[in-house]
Amino acid sequence: MKHLLSAADLSADGAVEILDSAEQMHAIQTRQVKKLPALRGRTIVNLFFEDSTRTRSSFEIAGKWLSADVINVSAKGSSVSKGESLRDTALTVAALGVDAIVIRHASSGAAHRVTQWVGCHVVNAGDGTHEHPTQALLDAFTLRRRLGELAGRHVVIVGDLTHSRVARSNVLLLTTLGARVTLVAPPTLMPSAVDSWPCGAEWDFDAVLSGKAAGDVDALMMLRVQRERMSGGYFPTEREYAIGYGLSPARLDKLAEHAPVLHPGPMNRGLEISSAAADSARSVVLDQVSAGVAVRMAVLYHLLAGADTAPPAIEPVTEEVRP
Ligand code: CP
Repeated sequence: MKHLLSAADLSADGAVEILDSAEQMHAIQTRQVKKLPALRGRTIVNLFFEDSTRTRSSFEIAGKWLSADVINVSAKGSSVSKGESLRDTALTVAALGVDAIVIRHASSGAAHRVTQWVGCHVVNAGDGTHEHPTQALLDAFTLRRRLGELAGRHVVIVGDLTHSRVARSNVLLLTTLGARVTLVAPPTLMPSAVDSWPCGAEWDFDAVLSGKAAGDVDALMMLRVQRERMSGGYFPTEREYAIGYGLSPARLDKLAEHAPVLHPGPMNRGLEISSAAADSARSVVLDQVSAGVAVRMAVLYHLLAGADTAPPAIEPVTEEVRP
């Protein structure tokens, strides 16, 4: 695999291979010396045209822990603010001699366009409302750690689905891994083409939680209401949205004992998720953040070191490669 642009790029075996490698990478997160020599001499550019906390910092940590050189370029503070185009920016970064570009952009399809202009590896770190494949991988990693194998599990994804690249990538990856997915949203926030997606679609959150609409729930993923992408009125008031679709303490109590609560972040507390749910023992939000580093290490390793290369030793390197 040269690029990772979509969760659809991954077969079930390919996804499991990355998730298994991520388990190895996860082991070094608890070690004192968090370095592997796997990508020594490689250079990765994080090219972020949209704000990010989790994705950008975890890609940076992932590259550094694999001993790559990592450079961050963001729209603010770069020549993008002077009007440079995406194409010219991508060509400029590639001309520096980098091995991989990790790109986040507000336009759907931006990462794919970049692959048509540059020869290096490209990873989609979120393109508009289209896809966020490494988020889906880290969600699957987190779920696998909680639930074991995902085949046959029922994952419910609730919220602003119209604007969610996380939902699309999760539907693709989770179904590839054999899970069943049900989407829940008010009709105004349900993607218009959802009938062609490989999942169920419901609007009554309480009926789904009680098992009446879609059967038992093994995991619940709450999504952010993306106010910055909304130009019109998708729901009457935030209070009404929270009443209909927020994860309140009462709804949290309806979940089966074993079912974790996920949220990709950043969270709108009090809107799509109550603080009681976000901070509950059920919440795996910070596990997702932690998984982000391991999964992104695995993705960078698979792309840059090559699928045929033996997995890296997880023993941390010693003085030899320290600066
Ligand atoms: N989940 C996610 O993509 O978060 P950031 O926008 O902080 O990267």
